[in-house]
Amino acid sequence: MDIKKEKMKIDRICCIGAGFVGGPTMAVIALKCPNIRVTVVDINEKKIQAWNGQLNKLPVYEPGLADIIDKVRDVNLFFSTEINKAIEESQMIFLAVNTPTKKSGEGKGYAADLTYIENSAKQIAKAAKSDKIVIEKSTLPVRTAERVKEILELNKKHNISFDVISNPEFLAEGTAINDLFKSDRVLVGGEPNERGLKAVNHLVDIYKRWIPEDKILKTNVWSSELSKLVSNAMLAQRISSINSISALCEKTGADIQEVALAVGMDSRIGSSFLKSSIGFGGSCFKKDILNLTYISRLYGLNEVADYWEKIILINDYQTERFADKILDNFNNNIEGKIISILGWAFKKNTNDSRESASIYLSRKLLLNGAKINVYDPMVHKSRIIDDINNVLKDVNICDDEVNEIISKITIYDNPYEAVNKSNLVAICTEWDEFIELDWGEIFNIMKKPSWVFDGRNLIEKSKLEKLGFKTFFIGKS
Ligand code: NAD
Ligand code: UDX
Repeated sequence: MDIKKEKMKIDRICCIGAGFVGGPTMAVIALKCPNIRVTVVDINEKKIQAWNGQLNKLPVYEPGLADIIDKVRDVNLFFSTEINKAIEESQMIFLAVNTPTKKSGEGKGYAADLTYIENSAKQIAKAAKSDKIVIEKSTLPVRTAERVKEILELNKKHNISFDVISNPEFLAEGTAINDLFKSDRVLVGGEPNERGLKAVNHLVDIYKRWIPEDKILKTNVWSSELSKLVSNAMLAQRISSINSISALCEKTGADIQEVALAVGMDSRIGSSFLKSSIGFGGSCFKKDILNLTYISRLYGLNEVADYWEKIILINDYQTERFADKILDNFNNNIEGKIISILGWAFKKNTNDSRESASIYLSRKLLLNGAKINVYDPMVHKSRIIDDINNVLKDVNICDDEVNEIISKITIYDNPYEAVNKSNLVAICTEWDEFIELDWGEIFNIMKKPSWVFDGRNLIEKSKLEKLGFKTFFIGKS
């Protein structure tokens, strides 16, 4: 079908990448558009099996997601490994594959690795037998659409046309379903010509079914790609700003929560993303800022690059600072001390631990000889061990030492067992259930003196101190 001559009918779409973005986003599209058949495909067979499996074992934990999957799965939402078939059958193809930081080659440690995007584009070109609208859902460096279009044209097997549009995803994990239902904005960037506009409008027609039109923003492709990186950088910037001030609060007697409240009440500043923590985690902020830094340097804008990179340096400093406080507390000798980490996920209400501050904190404590007990309500045990193994690769130690270190981690299914006989509890994730714990009972079963280091300012300090705990709270003296 020629998009120029007649209006393309969109009743079959597919999404390449069944991860934290592809799964929830497509589930919501399927729910809101019963007349569209949505297929989510992935190269990872186990993941697809899990998406097709038990609702309490889906690969992604998000409040509200399992209910939606229950309603639409095998009705108009399908999970499959048959990528070519899905491409062939769909008029619109979303790319929601991972775009991690490059580990080697040009831009190593900064630039986004576009291998998965490029492979997907090649596969689309080879499998497609009719015109396709290709949508960049992954977060990508500005001007990637140019490269995607080039790959599609170079590899296509038929005389067909491709439109590439940018539609970055702004959902946050833990609130993904709500974010998808009530997006602050939906951004759609297309080529500034008649054809590009038509492609954009096809996608807008889908979102219009539940997103008010005044929240759907149409821009050029480059603005759309860049806005995603900038949004994440500016959110992370607020966290690093408040975290940097937390260090000053600890020195001066100011209280970071009071400062954040006072500052955030200025309507020009606003109160969100001013919660001090042991450092932001997640798969996006660090990677996207590194990418922004790389792009800025590529264009010779070194001052711009340095400015944004500092956000990551402050974030690393914050986690390091928290670990150092624990070490200081034991006069730099934590050999054999038991430290209980409450929370491994990078934030509450997710099973995702990518770039979680808990990982880096635990590595430092383990390398200094501590024993680590971990409890998290959602992150799988094997994930926790993999996380530590992965970060130990960055340290120059032999396999025997790695095994020795790993043997010092114990993972528990129950928070009370995790804190039993420990010297110090470090609260790393703001899970609601940690507030509800019986802290009196915890005090009874911990070694004395019993320390709580609250890296999220989650529990009431005075309540813990009344129970007999010694405490450290981030940003409080
Ligand atoms: P993810 O790792 O959870 O999922 C990506 C999936 O793509 C994986 O399951 C992988 O197997 C699959 N994949 C890779 N190459 C493939 C190929 N050639 N064919 C088929 N499947 C392939 O990643 P994610 O967290 O969903 O992130 C995806 C993109 O969305 C990234 O660019 C990320 O920056 C962006 N993003 C993520 C979030 C978030 O909260 N996680 C939010 C907004 C944007
Ligand atoms: C982020 C963006 O918010 C989202 O728009 C984008 O699409 C993907 O990246 P996500 O990483 O899932 O989402 O979660 P977010 O709520 O942004 O939290 C990121 C990290 O910052 C978490 O570790 C969180 O605990 C931390 N954080 C957040 C703080 O330390 N303080 C805050 O005030 C807010």
